[in-house]
Amino acid sequence: MKPYVELKYITKRFPGVLALDAVNFNVMPGEIHALLGENGAGKTVLTNILSGRYDLNEGEIFIQGERIDPSKWSARAALDRGIGMVYQDFMLVEEHTVLENIALADLSIPFIPDFDQIRKTIADFGTKYQLDVDPDAKIWQLSVSEKQRVEIIKALMHGSKILIMDEPTAVLTPQEADELFKIVKKLAKEGTSIIFISHKLPEVFEICDRITVLRKGEYIGTVNVADTNEKDLAKMMVGREVFLQTEKAKYKPGLPVLVLKNISALSDRRIKALNNLSLTVHESEIFGIAGVSGNGQKELAEVITGLRPITNGNIHVNGNDITENTPRKAIKEGIGHIPDDRIGMGVVPDLGMPKSMVLKNYKESRFSFKGIFLKKAEITNYTKKLIKKFNIKTSGMSSPVKLLSGGNLQKVILAREISEEPCMMVAVHPTQGLDIGATEFVRDTLEKQRVDGAAILLISEDLEELMAVSDRIGVIYEGEIMDIMLTKDTTIEDLGLKMTGGSHVAA
Ligand SMILES: Nc1ncnc2c1ncn2[C@@H]1O[C@H](COP(=O)(O)OP(=O)(O)OP(=O)(O)O)[C@@H](O)[C@H]1O
Ligand SMILES: [Mg+2]
Repeated sequence: MKPYVELKYITKRFPGVLALDAVNFNVMPGEIHALLGENGAGKTVLTNILSGRYDLNEGEIFIQGERIDPSKWSARAALDRGIGMVYQDFMLVEEHTVLENIALADLSIPFIPDFDQIRKTIADFGTKYQLDVDPDAKIWQLSVSEKQRVEIIKALMHGSKILIMDEPTAVLTPQEADELFKIVKKLAKEGTSIIFISHKLPEVFEICDRITVLRKGEYIGTVNVADTNEKDLAKMMVGREVFLQTEKAKYKPGLPVLVLKNISALSDRRIKALNNLSLTVHESEIFGIAGVSGNGQKELAEVITGLRPITNGNIHVNGNDITENTPRKAIKEGIGHIPDDRIGMGVVPDLGMPKSMVLKNYKESRFSFKGIFLKKAEITNYTKKLIKKFNIKTSGMSSPVKLLSGGNLQKVILAREISEEPCMMVAVHPTQGLDIGATEFVRDTLEKQRVDGAAILLISEDLEELMAVSDRIGVIYEGEIMDIMLTKDTTIEDLGLKMTGGSHVAA
């Protein structure tokens, strides 16, 4: 069998970065091919070249054995040759229906789209690939995984033979990811190829056929899933042994740090999001919150960090009443925050690295005179230290942070939040989008803070992470803590069941 696409010796340079250095990559028809590598390895850039979004500097592209003239390669040309992209930042019009979005996306459909025909095609895809969506639902009414399905349908309607999925599970709950895997397997069985980018090795082993590994822009190799294991892959990606298990010190909780009593709060839509919730996190304790997203996790983090007022109850930190909480009060009490929406809340896209690092604390005397004149040399030194410590890959300190790879941008925020040594840390999905080396580092850092006496609230949908890191786990469901248990007394299956409200079926 001939590869559907073949990329040979692809080289791509950006000012100051060699993003890809003579990389080879090929995809067979009906194959699920994983693209792995550390943050900044070049995965997204490589798929952007294949999908015609970026020009290449050197190298060759073959589609079904035919050499493509690089000067004629564009997003449109790629689409016409069957290269489809399942967008992560969802290019859908929120107030339109699914049907309208799909109809209007397909440029090959005549001026007035045949809605009945499209409706039928959507239904056919639904049966054939388990791609169920309601064609008449408005996009804003859909869950993330449903939006993803709409993107897949859009790509298939274009006749895509290859679907590029760049970290598609990063935004999904474990249950939603399982559904996606079923769809992906069906698609592959019917002959569609999938390029699957992920940092989660277990899922790569679950669904992929072959794996190509990049490291710092270099092609390391391509292996069959059947011929490798997680340890070897980690070594290929990072270039050294990686310890996938965090060593944990014995659980010896100290005094209560965070005490929430009977907290209620409203969501952005003015619906009750937290319902009479109580919990306590102690010194030297990592308290995990497990739950299907949308059950109050976001609001819980915001209430503690002063971003959202409460309608009932009270909050104490180290005995101080911060019921009337504000972000400033929370920072003063030593509460650190790794927010969920790191791009929206964590950084200003056009700022360079040094200013991004001191965004929250530039007023401190070590970084500025009276909060007005910045101490440039100090800030630069501080930034250099963090770049080194967190192994952040950047083309230059002053280039805007929006040009960083997804994972490296995460690291900037993590570096800033974690290095302040808070007494209380609210960490929301702290390792999402991070490569294994960085994940190891973040977990080790949380563990170090725990040993040093910090109280940590870890909100995550990654049950394996919760089990590996937490001392106790509380299950949140519809804004209430349903159950609190010692991690050693529970299992992933048990948590999964409780997260959906016991007998409830997840939406
Ligand atoms: N438009 C751009 N301008 C300048 N540099 C860029 C641009 N896009 C990517 N880069 C750089 O190219 C390198 C590879 O980035 P890429 O986004 O492909 O990484 P990645 O493997 O997808 O990482 P992650 O796992 O973090 O998403 C990085 O150093 C990144 O900063
Ligand atoms: Mg990427």
